[in-house]
Amino acid sequence: MTELKDSTGPATAAAPVAFPQDRTCPYQPPTGYDPLRDGRPLSRVTLYDGREVWLVTAQATARSLLADPRLSTDRSHPGFPIPSERFAGARDRRVALLGADDPEHQRQRRMMIPSFTVKRAAALRPWIQRIVDELLDAMIAQGPPAELVSAFALPVPSTVICGLLGVPYADHTFFEEQSRRLLRGPTAADTQDARDRLEEYLGGLIDRKAEAAGPGDGILDDLVHHELRDGALDRAELLSLALILLVAGHETTANMISLGTYTLLRHPARLAELRADPELLPTVVEELLRMLSIAEGLARVALADIDVDGTTIREGEGVLFSTSVINRDASLYEEPDSLDFHRSVRRHVAFGFGIHQCLGQNLARVELEIALGALFARLPGLRLAAPAEEIPWKPGDTIQGMLELPVTW
Ligand code: HEM
Repeated sequence: MTELKDSTGPATAAAPVAFPQDRTCPYQPPTGYDPLRDGRPLSRVTLYDGREVWLVTAQATARSLLADPRLSTDRSHPGFPIPSERFAGARDRRVALLGADDPEHQRQRRMMIPSFTVKRAAALRPWIQRIVDELLDAMIAQGPPAELVSAFALPVPSTVICGLLGVPYADHTFFEEQSRRLLRGPTAADTQDARDRLEEYLGGLIDRKAEAAGPGDGILDDLVHHELRDGALDRAELLSLALILLVAGHETTANMISLGTYTLLRHPARLAELRADPELLPTVVEELLRMLSIAEGLARVALADIDVDGTTIREGEGVLFSTSVINRDASLYEEPDSLDFHRSVRRHVAFGFGIHQCLGQNLARVELEIALGALFARLPGLRLAAPAEEIPWKPGDTIQGMLELPVTW
């Protein structure tokens, strides 16, 4: 048994597993996580730098801890767990919403909520449908074959978030490339440089909006002409909000579209079921969110000792949440590794839980329903254009998804 320093209790029985690991199949948790799937709510895992932290793997424990104010998302705390070397510089940077604790978090979140309600997302349906239809028209006119990530999966959410925020889509090549480097740059210096460039770009955009006589119709225009002008937000905070909305708003949904498509194509019987009954779409999206769990390894640091079923998480210790393992909790889901459109998946944590639960989830659901629905309706013969095992996917320390997706029809 491994010697453990600070922590006590029954959860510490097994030898620590390395976390995060690359997936062995893009829609299943890495097989290296199998020892974590034995029903224990908490395990010790080893980070890239040899540090040991906690990993939460049971659903009830995850929901209770994600709602616990004694766990913080403050990246500057020395105990905050960093998943890999490329994110080592993240400690020095201010991150709005996701990196803020209450009351700062609550103040920021309150400003954003009206723009991301279920009602707002539903009202965007016709506009999102037009964006999806036009991208499919262009892809069909040029193909087959096509590379689905660049032709469809990325431009759909990218166009949508640009329109919502008031960021010119004409600049998409620049900010998509910087977002890619921010989330997957080869080194910490590269990741930091990408963030600098995004901040410089968004700073310029905010200043131009502030100089304009009246607001345009984007969320950033509103924030510049109201909250910034009234002093409810300072420029640095607004910049940080703009950055998280722009990056989280396109990278995540793009990965769900690409990996969701790949997963459905690898499950022909399930795809046939969806084609036969398009009313299943909302359930299909929810089950894909559960099964794919693309935002893996949510990170927190303990601000006090926390007792979890007889195990103590000590103040200052790092705590990670494996959404892919939590969303396959065998006490909640029968045959958790299989795709099943008839199960109840409402309690999954693919969007997190507690105060940081995804701000964009209503929007993401609408985008996914429309994008996946239209893609499979318009292309009945859609299939992979390369052997499935040869199509590359993303490394385990970042948002999960396909690096590229060659398709034909
Ligand atoms: C299917 C797509 C998406 C997935 C799977 C996803 C997943 C998540 C998860 C798991 C969290 C919580 C992280 C944590 O607790 O550490 C989160 C937070 C967040 N997401 Fe999403 N997200 C998606 C789409 C979006 C979109 C479209 C937006 C656009 C605005 C967005 C904006 C945010 C923001 C701002 C937060 C931080 C919220 C806060 O701290 O209050 N996400 N997301």
